[in-house]
Amino acid sequence: MEIMGRGFRQILQESPLYFHLGLKFAGYKLFNKRSPIYGSADITNVCNLHCKHCYWWLNRKEDEDLTLNQWEKVIEEKFKKQHVFVVTLVGGEPMMRPDIVELFIEKFPKRVCVVTNGTYSLPHFDNLYFYWISIDGTRQIHNEIRGEGTWEKTRKNIIDYVKNNGKKAWKDIWITMTINSKNFKTVRKVIEDWKELTNKIGFQFHTPFMKNDPLWLPFGKERNRLIDKIIEMQQNEYKDYIVNPKKQLELMKGRWGGKGTVPIDCPTWTILSLDHMGREKLPCCIGSAEKDSMKPRCEECGLGCYSVSIAYGMKGS
Ligand SMILES: C[S@@+](CC[C@H](N)C(=O)[O-])C[C@H]1O[C@@H](n2cnc3c(N)ncnc32)[C@H](O)[C@@H]1O
Ligand code: SF4
Ligand code: SF4
Repeated sequence: MEIMGRGFRQILQESPLYFHLGLKFAGYKLFNKRSPIYGSADITNVCNLHCKHCYWWLNRKEDEDLTLNQWEKVIEEKFKKQHVFVVTLVGGEPMMRPDIVELFIEKFPKRVCVVTNGTYSLPHFDNLYFYWISIDGTRQIHNEIRGEGTWEKTRKNIIDYVKNNGKKAWKDIWITMTINSKNFKTVRKVIEDWKELTNKIGFQFHTPFMKNDPLWLPFGKERNRLIDKIIEMQQNEYKDYIVNPKKQLELMKGRWGGKGTVPIDCPTWTILSLDHMGREKLPCCIGSAEKDSMKPRCEECGLGCYSVSIAYGMKGS
């Protein structure tokens, strides 16, 4: 038995953690008490790529990064104190700071996901939950979005990881695809390209920061047809591979989060999101700690990490 990549024995060992999770759910359901379930941290403010769709570059300012000791403090004061269950490491490119990745894994064994562009070789960490590797289309389209040769580098690093780290290494590799107007026709091909090498795939949609962003896939017929196709694959031939639940995918057909740049139904409280200085980002993990920053358009949001919480019954910013 496996639930979201967690085996039965692991679930048993983690039972004290589920106690806190249970308290959080009960507190929310009974008293509308909102305590974050997940954490996300931009562990670096540097990236080796400049992808066309990337929200992070829009608000990037300083060159500063925290030291290992400073992150240790932030982990204790922010994430541990609030008993977050799983922490997702992002950036920038988190694999440019493997020392911080290692620290987080030590503090949250089997509860750290690393979202990476996969262009750096992927070290094996005994207690990593999994790598979320960003793939944005077929080789050609991925390279158009992420830069020439990036698909090949990432492919090689995944093949090497699976080859060099034992029979079960493929289980550590999950693919995340952000669907936009450039790549939406490549979804099936992306599944076919990666299915044999990797454990799971998750889909989300591009979230714009400005009106009429050409990368946003508009609500309507074409988007609905694609979502119906993903649901069909998820319920039949790719049942164990596609991670998005049907309810979440259905939500992605229209406005689910808020109006303009204001979150309304979006459960922003479920994820405590910190920037590269350990400051809380608002309104969500793709926002910023700075007041005068560019804001994501909730009205056209396609983010997977919050819509999935709505699908599981959590609401309200
Ligand atoms: C900002 S990146 C940081 C981690 C790493 N550098 C990477 O590319 O995977 C985190 C994820 O956000 C996605 N992303 C970037 N801009 C986005 C946007 N405007 N809407 C939705 N997802 C976006 C990326 O494709 C990637 O999967
Ligand atoms: S690799 Fe990640 S952080 Fe860097 S530009 Fe691309 S999406 Fe943004
Ligand atoms: S995830 Fe962010 S952009 Fe999307 S609806 Fe929620 S607050 Fe708005």
